[in-house]
Amino acid sequence: MKYISFVFSGVIAGMCLAGCRPALPRLGEASLDEVVSALTLEEKARLVVGTGMTGFTTGDSAIVAEIKNQVPGAGGTTFAVPRLGIPSIVLADGPAGLRISPTRDNDTATYYCTYFPIGTLLASSWNTGLVEKVGQAIGNEVLEYGVDILLAPALNIHRNPLCGRNFEYYSEDPLVSGQMAAAYVRGVQQNGVGTTVKHFAVNNQETNRKANNALVSQRALREIYLKGFEIAVKEAEPWCVMSSYPYINGVYASENPWLLTTVLRQQWGFKGFVMTDWFGGKDALAQMKAGNDMLQPGLSKQYTDLVEGVKSGALPEEVLNRNVKNILSVILKTPKFKGYAYSNKPDLKAHARITRELATEGMVLLKNDRQALPLASDIRTVALFGCTSYDFISGGTGSGSVNGAYTVSLLKGLQNAGVMVDDGLRQAYLSYLESENRKAGSKSGQDKFKPVSRPDEMRVDPALLRSAVAQNQVALVTIGRSSGEFLDRRLSDFSLSANELALLREVSEAFHRAGKKVVVVLNIGGVIETASWKKWPDAILCAWQAGQEGGNSVADILFGKATPSGKLTMTFPNRLTDHASTANFPIDKTADIGIGKQGEKRGTNEKDVDYTNYAEGIYVGYRWFDKQQIEVSYPFGYGLSYTSFHYSLQSLSKEGPDAYTVRVNVTNTGTCAGKEIVQLYVQAPAGKKDKPVRELKGFAKTKSLAVGESQQLKLRVSAADLASFDETQGRWVVDAGQYVLSIGASSRDLRIKVEVQMPARVYDL
Ligand code: BGC
Repeated sequence: MKYISFVFSGVIAGMCLAGCRPALPRLGEASLDEVVSALTLEEKARLVVGTGMTGFTTGDSAIVAEIKNQVPGAGGTTFAVPRLGIPSIVLADGPAGLRISPTRDNDTATYYCTYFPIGTLLASSWNTGLVEKVGQAIGNEVLEYGVDILLAPALNIHRNPLCGRNFEYYSEDPLVSGQMAAAYVRGVQQNGVGTTVKHFAVNNQETNRKANNALVSQRALREIYLKGFEIAVKEAEPWCVMSSYPYINGVYASENPWLLTTVLRQQWGFKGFVMTDWFGGKDALAQMKAGNDMLQPGLSKQYTDLVEGVKSGALPEEVLNRNVKNILSVILKTPKFKGYAYSNKPDLKAHARITRELATEGMVLLKNDRQALPLASDIRTVALFGCTSYDFISGGTGSGSVNGAYTVSLLKGLQNAGVMVDDGLRQAYLSYLESENRKAGSKSGQDKFKPVSRPDEMRVDPALLRSAVAQNQVALVTIGRSSGEFLDRRLSDFSLSANELALLREVSEAFHRAGKKVVVVLNIGGVIETASWKKWPDAILCAWQAGQEGGNSVADILFGKATPSGKLTMTFPNRLTDHASTANFPIDKTADIGIGKQGEKRGTNEKDVDYTNYAEGIYVGYRWFDKQQIEVSYPFGYGLSYTSFHYSLQSLSKEGPDAYTVRVNVTNTGTCAGKEIVQLYVQAPAGKKDKPVRELKGFAKTKSLAVGESQQLKLRVSAADLASFDETQGRWVVDAGQYVLSIGASSRDLRIKVEVQMPARVYDL
């Protein structure tokens, strides 16, 4: 095909020699270099600057208004050059689904997208196949709604539980983050649309996010904050990368040639294009030179600066040519370029079934005393407590939200399962919510984008509680948390309020006195305090924010239609201050920041706002708790099942000079079918380097095992996986010695230990 078009353009060129005007090189027919050289300076500058954004006051106008509304509600579009066959492509958020406007002016059709579970829930499934499947479904909506590139996945590290966007991200561990992101990218891109891994890198707080200077050691960067991106880029080849907002060690991520060119392209082999986060960075020329190919959403000042920069010699035109070429190489692959006739009618019903089913696999059963769950099939009457039970949270706020058509509450989920929900409680909660919401007023315009404060928990009237105990077989209490872009969570959001604690205690005491059980459902996007109250209920299910079918998915788990098989991808600490990062995180410092001009408090020297010292280095999450031997409420990797599993070592084999394969047999020894997640941690020989006590180096999940059934899982570790980044040498280094490989059900439930000898190794970048 290429050959034919080449010959064809050759013929045209030949004909032109004979007297007509020379044919213009067209994208897809001529070489990229030919297309680039046919572009004017002005066209090149327009191509590297997005076409602007409606509805935002940026102090600057969008540069090309006429094409930005191709898909209303999309995040951005690119400039078209029709004379060279270059179309305008459309970029839209993720990650919990596609985010576009659900309705359009003068149009009665609706354009809802499926609200899938948040990233944290997907990661908690530890099932890369499942994440890939969700990615496939999301990618199908991207394609069918006429979008070319999804602005997802997001894989920043959960450095601290209070980061307002942790719900979009996967884990405190880089291996989990990288593998989940790679699976998501593979799934979405199977549709022939692109992904954007974001936010590259170190986007770990929302407070002053566009001007914060993150001070991070090279070792922590390489081992913790860049590692997941490295895995995703190398394994799944995302079409795009989004640079992050903050300064990293004094240089804006989007203006950082080391990050965007040396590391990303030269060391990892990234081939697509890099775009800024929306309004990120300051100096368009520096961004271009650093390898930040596209500036989004695009400001006219950026365009002018670039044109003038080339004219004055401040910006070599080759830099612009290089960046334009990177962008064109991706445009070539898009549905828009290929002329795909999208339907605007993805199969939302099928996707609702997918999200309902798959969400259950990322829910984590934290406690299940005396087999309180699953609820017996003869349980038909439920006392449903907690405002959130009636107003379920499908996901977080901001660009990571999705315009889904509905959210199934727990109330609705239980009713769908044929369960009677106590009517007195239902009426009390619904009228409380109505009056609280009326008081709060409805958020309009841009404010809808910001985190919403939810009403405090309702105090249940003692008489109502007594009648609920008398009339129902079991109590369910939902605790909810919502957070999102622009604001970090407050300490009070991590802790439970006095009303929440009172509710949990009073309901537990009253139902227990009557010999009835109490189950708590956590409808949260990030870690909360559990240590002080977990003793009260019989069972705790961390359901995360499970997308639009949340209530149905939770009901499926509560009644045993699905067996929980999620495990935590982060630690639930006893106290927030137990995290090393809490000493250097903006606790309750978040000012109300406006979109587009957020914060930008530079030069104030205010700790954790102007700058954040990542003093804990590589000791993030369990790496810290294990090193300091700190008791935690629920450890990294933890999660219960309705059944139980036995592990036995099948074999340990050496593969080549520096790799080992461990085969583990997992047997379902319980009473119902279920899946198990097996984790492999490595401990380095003592005394040489400062190393964590153990680090996750592999994981695998069984299929659904019937009672008595076994499955062999294979986990492979090579020397390269064990390397530490040596800052003096600027290389990855493995010390020779005995390494302990521990295989377990969580980071604190290690069941099999083997020792292997590793040779010394160094790896250049
Ligand atoms: C967010 C990005 C998002 C972009 C476009 C920014 O505010 O940080 O994650 O992709 O907006 O909506």
